[in-house]
Amino acid sequence: AGAVVVTDEPLAPKTWLRVGGPAQHFAEPTSREQLQALVARCAETGTNCRLLGGGSNLLVRDEGVSGLVIRLPKEHWSDLTIDAESGTVTVDCGAPLSHLVAETVKAGLAGLETLVGIPGTVGGALHGNSGGRHADVGSVCESVEVMTRSGEIFTRTRDELSFGYRRSSLDELCLLRATFTLRPADPDALADRARKTWILKKSSQPLSHQSAGCVFMNPRGQSAGDLIERAGLKGTRVGGAEVSDRHGNFIVTGEGARSADVLRLIDLCRDTVLQRTGVELETELRIW
Ligand code: EPU
Repeated sequence: AGAVVVTDEPLAPKTWLRVGGPAQHFAEPTSREQLQALVARCAETGTNCRLLGGGSNLLVRDEGVSGLVIRLPKEHWSDLTIDAESGTVTVDCGAPLSHLVAETVKAGLAGLETLVGIPGTVGGALHGNSGGRHADVGSVCESVEVMTRSGEIFTRTRDELSFGYRRSSLDELCLLRATFTLRPADPDALADRARKTWILKKSSQPLSHQSAGCVFMNPRGQSAGDLIERAGLKGTRVGGAEVSDRHGNFIVTGEGARSADVLRLIDLCRDTVLQRTGVELETELRIW
């Protein structure tokens, strides 16, 4: 049977910011065949098709999105196999990144342990090359199996992939399965490193609030959070959204927040920082 397609599905609860409108159509395929059928139908009918990951780096506009939004339910897209000897890890891209990080730390494989605490799916992490100061997913990625907008499946290997600061060359519709090559290490030392990274993160970021992580990319050699703080914008509110008073590069949402509130704060931060410092901030947050 094909995947169930529903109409006017609210997207806000599927994102970490919890704002924004519905998807015109929404489906959660449980197999490759179902996914392929959905994608093929969109290609045939010229319907816009988007893939929703963990929703942790996404702002959906209040008017919602037209066409089909697909999400890969993690119950069906989280298979993970580890070959500890060769350091090879293969994982479905619908798996939470945190699952991949935890399992590789447990197996005594180094390379992803400082990505602890980063939300989202493996696919989303690869697409935007998630990471922190010490590492990113792209640098240990060996290959990615992808599905194109016409439903074709093929594998992109390391030599055909490029990863930069919060970007990758992975522009296909859907990332299916990825392989990582990691280095053997002492599991206790890795767990310790992960714990220290997590404590540091918690001390500087508003992790107990609704947010989509950092809103802007750090301009070369500078900190967007610091620029926003020096522009006096921390704590600024528009409607139900606020520039975090803890970290200037986070916008947090609360009761009654709308997507438009977040968008106005983004513009305000960009305009004010540009006026004061001449630095043009670029969003890292994805906007639908
Ligand atoms: N700072 C301020 N005021 C602020 C925020 C930061 O002065 O309001 C200063 C800090 O004191 C520090 C410097 O700016 O000296 C850097 O801040 P922080 O250590 O918090 O790191 P960041 O550069 O703001 C980056 C990533 C984060 C990642 C952390 C830790 C970007 C845009 N952000 O933040 O990624 O968690 O390093 O590795 O690259 C994300 O991508 O969503 C994200 C949160």
